Amino acid sequence: MPANYHIGVIPGDGTGPEVIAEALKVLYAVSRRCAIKFDFEEFGVGGAQYLEDGTLLPDRVIDQLRRKDAILLGAIGHPDVEPGVLETGILLKLRFRLDLYVNLRPVVLYPGARTPLRDKGPGDIDFVVIRENTEGAYAGVGGFFKKGTPEEVALQESVNTRKGVERCIRYAFSYCRNRNRKKHLTLCAKTNVLLYESDLWFRVFQEISREYPDIKTDYQHVDALCMWMIKNPERFDVIVTNNMFGDIITDIGAIIQGGLGIAAGANINPGGTAMFEPIGGSAPKYEGKDCINPLAAIGSAQMMLEHLGEKEAASILLSAIKKVVMDDLKSLEAGRMGHGTREVGDLVAGYVQAA
Ligand code: IPM
Ligand code: MN
Repeated sequence: MPANYHIGVIPGDGTGPEVIAEALKVLYAVSRRCAIKFDFEEFGVGGAQYLEDGTLLPDRVIDQLRRKDAILLGAIGHPDVEPGVLETGILLKLRFRLDLYVNLRPVVLYPGARTPLRDKGPGDIDFVVIRENTEGAYAGVGGFFKKGTPEEVALQESVNTRKGVERCIRYAFSYCRNRNRKKHLTLCAKTNVLLYESDLWFRVFQEISREYPDIKTDYQHVDALCMWMIKNPERFDVIVTNNMFGDIITDIGAIIQGGLGIAAGANINPGGTAMFEPIGGSAPKYEGKDCINPLAAIGSAQMMLEHLGEKEAASILLSAIKKVVMDDLKSLEAGRMGHGTREVGDLVAGYVQAA
């Protein structure tokens, strides 16, 4: 009996539907090659639906998604909707309500890919950022005082619970051990300024490190870490950090592996349904032009196979992605690939079937 997975699909906004279409095309190819069955169910949440009837993410949809084996998401964000409405009302709500407390973002330079760090090669850029995904500055705790007056005050609190910090750091240690590369885990925080939250992160990090004597540990302030990611990316294996810092440093991670077009990601709760999404946004300026790179979405589908335990399928798909990067694409950037979005999907699907 082939495994049968129920996958919730949220194509979302902008170029989201275009890249998700390619990810599904590739998963159908995987399905034919590896005797795995997927039942995809699409959910129309996103900017268009919000503009039409004011709906964001109804509880009914969350409940349906919770019952899926995994969720694939394109991008959320629409130029005609005020910033923050869709992000907090859909994307963050999904991450929070499904308790997807780990945001896993690999940074890897594939052979043939060009990085602005020209003298670094594949192997020098190969690390994973584990971003806490449900609290910190993203918790939405705060408020205005005297809003709209000359004396107005805006407070945006960073919420760090012992439970939230601990489960994320524990996940990072265990991930680092299983990855079995350099067995080196870096904590990224700002202990010289964020005296309370970074102190909590630092103490918990030290505490849990005692349970993992085989993992070497390291600490970097976030600003210095940004510099090292560019100057000496080879020093990193796994980095664990809070929600806000993780958001910022993974955009640097995206560009040093060739751009947002290749940067895949996963939102994980080890005990629940995980959600896989490329880390870039909805890129409205490229919408409908068949020029966006679908490899980040396809790479996210690859992470989904890995997460579902489909080792062979995941490894076939990874090789196909690497082959396209090596042999077919001129660049990983939108509009400069030398191929259209759909062609890139066809190429990957073709390599999967030929594998
Ligand atoms: C990301 C994005 C989101 C975030 C936005 C769209 C809310 O930048 O996934 O990195 O800040 O988490
Ligand atoms: Mn981001």
